[in-house]
Amino acid sequence: MKYLTGALTVAALFLVASWGIALAGDDHSKEAEKRDDSLKRAVAVIHPTKDNSARGVVHFHRSAPGQVTLSAHIEGLEPEQKHGFHIHEYGDCSAEDGTSAGDHYNPEGHPHGLQEEDERHAGDLGNIVADEQGKGTLILTVDNISIAGESNPIIGRGLIVHRDPDDGSQPVGDAGPRIGCGVIGVASGEG
Ligand code: CU
Ligand code: ZN
Repeated sequence: MKYLTGALTVAALFLVASWGIALAGDDHSKEAEKRDDSLKRAVAVIHPTKDNSARGVVHFHRSAPGQVTLSAHIEGLEPEQKHGFHIHEYGDCSAEDGTSAGDHYNPEGHPHGLQEEDERHAGDLGNIVADEQGKGTLILTVDNISIAGESNPIIGRGLIVHRDPDDGSQPVGDAGPRIGCGVIGVASGEG
């Protein structure tokens, strides 16, 4: 009987301990969700690099849990042409050719890819297509970044518009020089 009681006590302690661990895990994911929630909107204002004319605004918002929708409106592009469009690793447009923004944002170490590739850099947004007036609009929902959550947060990173199309090739899509650069910052507005 003594032995049985002892065994039961051990089992009970074990149950309480695992329950505690499960609760702690729950708290952790709630915390993560809260952090993910804390910023719903971001914005990047694109300015032309030296001798170029690409300018515009890109809005980001958390459209669903784990999803970010961006809408980009850029002008001063080469008419009727695709332009590579990426989040780069640094929010630094100080170099006159935009190279200070670094490489494609790629925290998970994936190869480069266009939108249809499941495995691609977190910053690979594909191309923005210019109309006959050199204006491009891109509206896109992605699930591999967050505004400021735990999954590949984009706040404070750079946004680059390239002269040439991103053709999806390695290592970075061969999109040529950087014609526009912006920094992804906190935007006003809720919801
Ligand atoms: Cu780029
Ligand atoms: Zn890339």
